[in-house]
Amino acid sequence: MPTILVTGGCGYIGSHTIVDLIENNFDVISIDDNSRSTNIAIDGIQKITGKRIKNYKVDLKDFNDTRAVFQENQHIDGIIHFAAYKAVGESVEKPLLYFENNMVGLINLLKCVSEFNIPHFVFSSSCTVYGNPDNIPVTEKSPMKEAESPYGATKQMGEQMIKDFSKVNNISSILLRYFNPVGAHPSTYIGELPIGKPMNLVPAITQTAIGKISTMFVHGNDYDTRDGSCIRDYIHVCDIAHAHTLGIQYLLDKRNRTNCDIFNLGTGCGVTVLEAIHTFEEVSGLKLNYEIGPRRLGDVVAIFANNELAIQKLNWQIKYDLNAMLKTAWDWELKLKEEEDLLHNQTLLN
Ligand code: WQD
Repeated sequence: MPTILVTGGCGYIGSHTIVDLIENNFDVISIDDNSRSTNIAIDGIQKITGKRIKNYKVDLKDFNDTRAVFQENQHIDGIIHFAAYKAVGESVEKPLLYFENNMVGLINLLKCVSEFNIPHFVFSSSCTVYGNPDNIPVTEKSPMKEAESPYGATKQMGEQMIKDFSKVNNISSILLRYFNPVGAHPSTYIGELPIGKPMNLVPAITQTAIGKISTMFVHGNDYDTRDGSCIRDYIHVCDIAHAHTLGIQYLLDKRNRTNCDIFNLGTGCGVTVLEAIHTFEEVSGLKLNYEIGPRRLGDVVAIFANNELAIQKLNWQIKYDLNAMLKTAWDWELKLKEEEDLLHNQTLLN
C-alpha cells in the first residue's frame, strides 16, 4: 500500500484529498502547522473513513522540523503539496508574508525530496497562473499572463521551481491547476472553514443565507459578460480531490510524458456570479439577500478550463454539477450552524 505525504492535510482541499486517497487504498500522513486550520478535519476524516491519520504539526518554513518528518517516515512514495496561504486579497496587502510562507515552505520540501529520494510530487497550483486570459477556455498551453496578485505570483514561481528541480533530480512531478474549488463532502463531516469574513463567493453565499452575514455584495455587474458579472469555472472539491489520487497513480504507473506534466482541473463550464446566486436560491429554496457593489481589485473578468487533458490522461470523470456543488455547500453550512447551536445550548446548561 503506497504511502503519500500530504502537506496542508488539515485544510479544505487537503482533507478531502486524504479521504479519497484512503478510499483508494493509500496510506497517508499529513504535515500541517494548523496556522489556518485545526485538527477538526482529522476527526472528520476518521468519521468518514474509519482511519485516524497522523498529522505532524510542523511549519514547513522550519527546515529541521520538516526534515525530521522524513527521517521518521522512510517509506514515503509520493508527496501532494497543498500547504500555502491562498487569500488573493490578503496577499496584495501582505506580499512578504505570502512569498516567505509559500516559497520557503516549498524550497524546504524540495530539499527533503532530494535528500530522501522521494520519487513523485504533486503540486497544488491554480488557474490564477493564467492571469486575465485573452482567450477562453484556457488550455495548459495558454500563456501565463502577469499574475493579478502576489498569491498568483507564488503559484507561477512554484511551478517554475518544480519544473527546474524535476529536470535535475530523479523525480516525476505534476502541476494541478485548480479553477474554483467549492462544495463539501456529502457526509458533511468535512468542508470549507473560512477564517473570518469569507472572501470566496460560495462561503459568502452560504453564510449570508444562514444569517452569519446580513448582506453579500456582488463585486460588479458592469463587466463585458452575458449578465455583467464575472465568470468562473466552479468545480466540486471532491472532484478535485479524486484528481489528486488519479494524479499520484498516473505517476506511480509511470504514464507521465515528461518529468513535469500539467493539468487543468475545471468543469469546462463558465458560470457568472449572478447565475451561481440564482442556482443557490433554487437549490436552497431561499431568497438570498445580496446587492450589487463595486468591482473588486484584481478580479479576472472571465476564465474557465479546457479540461480535456485531465479527462484523457488521468481518466478523470467529473461527478458533481453546479446544483450538487451548491447543495453540499449549503448542507455543510447547515451542519456548522447545528453544531454551533448545540455548543451554545450546552454552554447555557453548564
Ligand atoms: C469568484 C467571483 C468575485 C465574493 C479563487 C481563490 C484562489 C484560486 C481561484 C485556488 C469573483 C465574486 C466573491 C463575494 C462576489 N483558487 N465574489 N462577492 O477570486 O476566482 O479566486 O479561486 O487556487 O485561491 O481565491 O474566487 O470566490 O473569491 O470570487 O461577487 O462576496 O465571485 O468578485 O468574480 P477567485 P472568489
